[in-house]
Amino acid sequence: IMKQEMMTVVSQIQLAPNIYELVLTGELVKEMKVPGQFIHIKVPRADLLLRRPISLAKINLEKAECTIIYRVEGAGTADFSQLTTGDLLDVMGPLGNGFPITDISSEDIVFIIGGGIGVPPLYELSRQLKKRGAKVVHILGFAKQEVIFYEEAFKALDEVHISTDDGSYGTQGHVGNVLDRLLKEYQPTAVYSCGSNGLLKTVEANFHDHPRAYLSLEARMACGMGACYACVCHLQADETGKESKKVCDEGPVFATGEVRL
Ligand code: FES
Repeated sequence: IMKQEMMTVVSQIQLAPNIYELVLTGELVKEMKVPGQFIHIKVPRADLLLRRPISLAKINLEKAECTIIYRVEGAGTADFSQLTTGDLLDVMGPLGNGFPITDISSEDIVFIIGGGIGVPPLYELSRQLKKRGAKVVHILGFAKQEVIFYEEAFKALDEVHISTDDGSYGTQGHVGNVLDRLLKEYQPTAVYSCGSNGLLKTVEANFHDHPRAYLSLEARMACGMGACYACVCHLQADETGKESKKVCDEGPVFATGEVRL
């Protein structure tokens, strides 16, 4: 059953240039339990019918609030950035499979690898992994210092390593550089990632055969519920290139070794 609701804006703040944090409240929050799921939000404008998929960055079941963090990338997300307290938004969800975490315990050393606007879903993921007692090492990449967000929030959870493409903060270069260094220090028992295709390819290359390594894919979506095939990706095992998976309802999270990047 597709869940849909007019959710209410609790607050909105700008975290960095073009990056916003929006807190919503509503009954739908009760359904939000698995980190890595997303909501499909209708652009609040009569001339735009499409929804935008945005991942959940934080779920607060007690207060019935959820937080999303998004980047303004054109019409739609620009409209979201104008919303203020009390405004209503048409939300569908939660959608997608999310990150599998039920087998994580205090025995685990987990690598969380994220980049840019792929970082938000990893925050709720990390909160839930910490509740399960795991050691979590965050490896986060950003373009430059001014677009870094949630550094303190992640630090409050566990170890954080930051890299920037231009070297304006942390280690210079992409997350692979930091990852190479940390792999000499730790042998992660689980790996979770979300970010650009390049970042996911780095994770795939390092953890192709790892039994518990996961990638969260981004895809263009239309329906968000498995009906339109706008969001397909292809399986690595399939030579013909015909077999596909839908990122919206069979993903967005896949194990390494599963889909072609
Ligand atoms: Fe329609 Fe995935 S967005 S099938």
